[in-house]
Amino acid sequence: MKPYIYITRKLPEEAIAPIRQKYEVKMWDHDDVPVPKDILLAEIKQADALLTMVSDTIDEKVLNEANNLKIVANCAVGYDNIDLTAAAKNRVIICNTPDVLTDTTADLTFALLMAVSRRVVEAAEFIKKGQWKSWSPFLLAGQDIHHKTLGIVGMGKIGEAVAKRASGFEMNLLYHNRTRKPEIEQKLGTVYCSFEDLIKKADFVVCLAPLTDETQNMFNREVFQKMKHSAIFVNASRGPVVDEQALYEALVTGEIAGAGLDVFEKEPIDDGHPLLELSNVVALPHIGSASVETRTAMINLCIANIEAVLEGKLPLTMVKKNSKICTNSK
Ligand code: GLV
Repeated sequence: MKPYIYITRKLPEEAIAPIRQKYEVKMWDHDDVPVPKDILLAEIKQADALLTMVSDTIDEKVLNEANNLKIVANCAVGYDNIDLTAAAKNRVIICNTPDVLTDTTADLTFALLMAVSRRVVEAAEFIKKGQWKSWSPFLLAGQDIHHKTLGIVGMGKIGEAVAKRASGFEMNLLYHNRTRKPEIEQKLGTVYCSFEDLIKKADFVVCLAPLTDETQNMFNREVFQKMKHSAIFVNASRGPVVDEQALYEALVTGEIAGAGLDVFEKEPIDDGHPLLELSNVVALPHIGSASVETRTAMINLCIANIEAVLEGKLPLTMVKKNSKICTNSK
């Protein structure tokens, strides 16, 4: 019998075709709706491998249903949707998709920063609505980016790629990270500082830290109160690192000037989410790595990891068992 691979979203057939000869492959047949829990629970009982999305919760209850499961290949660099302890207990290897998405996610992060500071979305809506009646010196005037101070919270590979982009804008670069990165300090002139110092000094605070017990709600009321009134906050990591109510209050009261958000506490967000009503917020539906090239590379990497494990080899990008994750998200 061929090993069985279950994929939790409908992916382009051409991505899957090369493995159909060797494996039995089934996909959830929607690309815009996640697989329902009962179907996932039924499929995991039979699967040798799962290819999952960031929107699937692979918790202890799900993993305990597995009988033959050897690998979960998560189509994302983040893996806070997966219970690593339960995976280890069930002897299931977890893989993610680092590296292939670094530049694409950094591009989007920088695009958010630029869109908020130069009011690009507001201005585009303004002209489309026919509101442009006259040129005026301060019409939709935003804030400069060049020569300002960027504070990066979470200096992983994406953080470094954002710093590289920022150095082209001749920005001053501060960062905060669990561990210091002397090589990046040397290469890009980034300056390590405490979280407290970073939030006080930065004109742009960009969060790229993974969701862990330590980072959950790290951007709370007190933190926004300490930022400059002109500060712009960008979150391209995970929604639960931010207390959204506190962010809303900070934006409404003018404690900070704007926010660019690619991720939210609960995704997808509900209609009428208060942050969407604010003109100083640019919100995106979690599309950090969403270029056709990169999403294709991520799917291919997931497939390569699955093939390796099913052939008894080491996968290319395995998540370490003791990696830090958030234990009470989702
Ligand atoms: C997306 O959010 C990812 O973790 O790759």
